[in-house]
Parts: sequence; C-alpha cells; structure tokens
Amino acid sequence: MTHEDIERAAQAPGYVKNPRLLEWVADVARRCTPERIHWCDGSEAEYDALCAELVRGGTFRKLDGGKRPNSYLAWSDPSDVARVEDRTYICSIHKHDAGPTNNWVSPPEMKAMLERLFEGCMRGRTLYVIPFSMGPLGSPISHIGVELTDSAYVVVNMRIMTRMGRAALDALGEEGTFVPCLHSVGAPLSPGQPDGPWPCNRDHKYIVHFPEENAIWSFGSGYGGNALLGKKCFALRIASSMAREEGWLAEHMLILGVESPEGVKRYVAGAFPSACGKTNFAMMIPPPALSDWKVTTVGDDIAWIKPGADGRLYAINPEAGYFGVAPGTSYQSNPNAMATLERNSIFTNVALTPDGDVWWEGMTDRPPPALTDWQGKPWTPDCGRFAAHPNARFTAPASQCPSIDPDWEKPEGVPLSALIFGGRRSQTVPLVVASFNWNFGVYMAATMGSETTAAAAGATGEVRRDPMAMLPFCGYNISDYFDHWLEMGHAISDPPRIFSVNWFRKGADGKFLWPGYGENMRVLKWIIERADGCAPAIQSPLGWMPRYEDLDWEGLEGMTREQFSALMSVEREAWLREFLSHEELLLKVYERLPKEFVVMRELLLASLWRSPPVWEQP
Ligand code: GTP
Ligand code: SPV
Ligand code: MN
Repeated sequence: MTHEDIERAAQAPGYVKNPRLLEWVADVARRCTPERIHWCDGSEAEYDALCAELVRGGTFRKLDGGKRPNSYLAWSDPSDVARVEDRTYICSIHKHDAGPTNNWVSPPEMKAMLERLFEGCMRGRTLYVIPFSMGPLGSPISHIGVELTDSAYVVVNMRIMTRMGRAALDALGEEGTFVPCLHSVGAPLSPGQPDGPWPCNRDHKYIVHFPEENAIWSFGSGYGGNALLGKKCFALRIASSMAREEGWLAEHMLILGVESPEGVKRYVAGAFPSACGKTNFAMMIPPPALSDWKVTTVGDDIAWIKPGADGRLYAINPEAGYFGVAPGTSYQSNPNAMATLERNSIFTNVALTPDGDVWWEGMTDRPPPALTDWQGKPWTPDCGRFAAHPNARFTAPASQCPSIDPDWEKPEGVPLSALIFGGRRSQTVPLVVASFNWNFGVYMAATMGSETTAAAAGATGEVRRDPMAMLPFCGYNISDYFDHWLEMGHAISDPPRIFSVNWFRKGADGKFLWPGYGENMRVLKWIIERADGCAPAIQSPLGWMPRYEDLDWEGLEGMTREQFSALMSVEREAWLREFLSHEELLLKVYERLPKEFVVMRELLLASLWRSPPVWEQP
C-alpha cells in the first residue's frame, strides 16, 4: 500500500503524521471491520456529542442538571462489573519471565487465538482512535499510548482519566513511539441488529499484555481496568516492565503531601490493594484537633517513581482523573471525593434516585425510601439487595479535587519521605510498624496479605498474598520484581522509610478497632516524624512501633491504652501462621527469589521466638 492508501484506510485527518500509527490503525480497521473510524480530538464538543449519543443508545442516563451538573450514569451488564484476573495474561516470550503469579500463553499462540476473536469484531460499530498521555503532556517522564476501541463509553472515561486527544497526538509527533492498546467489547452487530446498553462478550474475555513489544490487546469487557487501558494495563503492567529495564518503579500507590503546622512539606506514597483505602487516604481531612496539619492529593491509584539526582525517589501520578470506589464514599468519610464528583463526572453501577441523582451504600446514614438499583430494578431499603454494585465507581477529573496538591502535575514529581504498605486484615496485623530498614521493608511489603474485595471478579474476604498490592498488576516475574525493589534501595543514597499499616483490624465483637478515615492522620503524623528521624518508638518483633504516648490522641475519645495495645499486639501463633503462608508464596517464586528474603524471614522468625507469646506494648 502507498502512504496515501494507508491514510485513506485509516480515515485519518490531515494532521496525523505518525506513519506507524497510521499503519496500525489501517491494519486494525482491516481486521476488525468497523463501520467508520473516529479520530478523537479530546475537545469538549466531542465529549458532549459522544455523551449525547450514549444517552440516545441507552448506555448513559443524564443526571439532573441542578443536582449533578454535566454528569451521567451507566449500568453495566451484570456479567461485566470488575477486573477479570483469571482472564488477564502476561504473554512474554518465555513463561518464566511472566512468572508464577501471572497467567501466561506464548505470544504466537495467544495472537493466533485473539486474531480470530478480533476478526470482524467491530462490525456495525465505530472504531475510536484515542491518543493519550500518561503523565503531564510533554513531560519527559510521560509516555504516549493510543487506544483503539469500539466503545464510546471508553472514550469519554479516557478523556477524564488521561490527557487525551489532539494534544497527545502533537506530543507523539511524526517520529514518537506509543504503546498500542487495542480494545473491543467483542460484540459485533449484524445489519439491522439493535445494540444493547452495555455491549460486551459474556463468553470470551481476554486482557492481554505483550511486555516485549509493549502492546496491549483487550477483548470482551467494557468495564474499568479491563477497558480503560491507560490505567492498569499500561500504567502498571506494561510500565512496571519498562520500569524494571530502565531503573524505576511503576506502583499501585496513592501519593499525598503533608504540611506540618510549622510549614514543613513532606510527601508519602502508599500501596493498598484494590478497594482498601487509597482514595480515602489520599484525600484525607485531618480531625479538628490536628487541623493545623494539611493533607494534599497528588494521586489516588498509580505512582511512577524515579530516582532523582539528589539520591531521593520522586513520584508522579500518570493519571488525570479518579476511577474511585463509590460505596462507602460520603461527606463524612471522604468530603474531598464527594466535592470532586459533584459535577462533570460519570457514575457506573450506582443507584438512581427518583429526582435524577445518584446514591450508593454508605453515601448517607439513612438510605432514600425508594431507588432504582444498578440493574434498573425498583429498590427499597428492606429489599435485601445492594442498590449499588459493591464495585460501583465514579470517574471524576482530578483537577476538581479540593485537596489537589499544587505540584501534582510537576514534571519531575514530588520527593518521597516514606512508603506505606497496607492490607485489609481483620486479624493479626498491627495498626502501624516501621520496618527496621529498606530490605526488611521490602520483605514485609512483598509478603503482605489482604482480604480480597469486589474490585476483582471472584470470591471476596479471603486472605491472599498481595505483594506491594501489585499481585494483579505486576507485568513480569514477581521474583524479579522483588529483586528490582531491593536493587532500587541500593541504587539511591536517600531512600524513603518503609512502613506497614492496617486500618482494618477487628476486635472479638467483629467491629473495627481503629476509627480510620481522617483519624488515620494520627498515624500519618507519626510516620512523617519517624521518617524525619524525630519520632520516638519501641522495638517490636516486627519493627519499630509507636507507644501509646507517641501518638497524638487530642480530640479522640475512647482510645484507651488497652484498646491501643490490642490494635498493636503481635501474637506469636498468629504470626507463625502468617510466616507459614509467606512460605507458600516464597516456594512458588523460589527459583528466582532474592537470597536476602530467606535470611530476613529467618531473622523475623527468630525475633518472634525471642518475644513473649503475645507481645504487647509496655
Ligand atoms: P482501587 O481504586 O480499587 O485501587 O481502591 P482504593 O484503594 O482507592 O480504595 P478506596 O479508597 O476507594 O477504598 C474503598 C473501601 O475502603 C471502602 O469500603 C471504604 O469504606 C474503605 N475504607 C477506606 N479507608 C478506610 C479506613 O480508614 N478504615 C476503614 N475501616 N475502611 C476504610
Ligand atoms: C483497582 O481495581 O485497583 C482499580 C479499579 O483501581 S480498575 O481500574 O477497574 O482496575
Ligand atoms: Mn487500583
């Protein structure tokens, strides 16, 4: 084909100059046979037109303009409500490069299979070309991706979640490289066949990554991380693999700023597994007694972390919006999130109020008397069903967040003083521990356990090992990933201090022992001061811990010394079981496991045996 033929086949506007992009679009169009091709410019007019089209097609419902300006509600197919981890693949050339925690199929076999699925899969639909930048436009740290999708829902969500459109294309230029992200809902339309409100493929879902060629192919799902390919697929799985080669980290972490009453500004990043409190922590409002501390938000889900010339680690948020868990979000638990999603937002799988607004479990103390639930059915508080799906989400622009950090788009990122790792553990794991050093911190993070949540399809509430909250997102062999983490600590002169936290420990009565949310500021304050080398602590079997008198309790009623002891205790039997379960993970990854891990496990076990059966605060 001549260049003109390719341009014609790609139906590209004249300003598209990148030959590789044109060729790829032409090739995909030839295979997927869409009815037309739409090159996204990212304008507001385009966004409005696509939303109007989604309203006409029944995917979107426009919410009441007075209550929720410029906002829309979508209900997905009940079979398409979360990430599908068992359908997610890392297709490296060699199986051991994907490692024991990833699904793997050889690239030729996977491509042959996917090519059959993609054949004609966009029939009757529009192929949208979405150029986007992960990271601020034109920043040296940013990377360009192009998503090809047959879902207008994906286009409008990508416009909120990334810097999308003509400007990203300009940043790509004629010579630039991009991560090709191919997506189809996998629901071709025969001539005259009416479209449903949430097209997807119930039988075949594949979320596939080719790390050696930095390419992504996603088929069959229109939901969240399965479909908004800039997020988990690119900014975590592909980026983590790029990061290892280039000496940086792509992590499932929030980034926040803390300013002390004296005006000292620090930044921390925190890895909590899906639906375990990153958005809440990133937007935290300190309780009144600590209101002279200020928390600002850089990111709520993903951090790209690079060493700076001064020997510190610097983090940027590659995203431009939040795709946040709706249930549990309220003006009480997270006022900043609530303010962020007051307008210009998209809601997926939440309930609809009779007056055209949204509702979800936990949004208000008392539920409204009548709603339409996320499946379009009438709902009343006593009907025994959820009004919103537990993994219902909002898509909202980061720029609307009242706590957004002034430096959130700074190209060089913000310097990190501390890294925090936190799972959802109703038992065993104390409120906060500072690791003895970088290596112990990496070990504790790598063996972190967490109870599964509705963010992924499958059972919930089961404890599983979720290394660095990256189990579903690490794009290469997890042992190599651990090794890379250890390497990073050696490579820099001033690494952040590592902490582990658990907001979710429960008492015998089944209630949370820790009030959480804004009260987490008390822990964060100790973490900041500890990272600065000026917070007292005692040595526990697992690391350094604050004593009761080391935390600021002003204004918090009812947290007695005894209750704090229960929150912080280290029970030998429970921890021996914990270390046994580490063994399960470590055996799985043994082949390439860093030698340090074996030693650190032994040292921690020895320190447990040296301590009383129940180690408690003095
Ligand atoms: P992803 O977007 O899936 O990566 O998750 P996330 O880590 O951003 O999750 P998010 O902050 O949205 O957490 C959602 C769940 O955690 C909700 O059920 C919240 O109620 C709960 N949660 C958040 N912070 C706390 C806390 O401090 N204590 C308790 N008990 N629950 C919390
Ligand atoms: C997560 O599951 O960790 C999310 C939501 O942040 S999704 O983008 O759907 O993966
Ligand atoms: Mn996430």
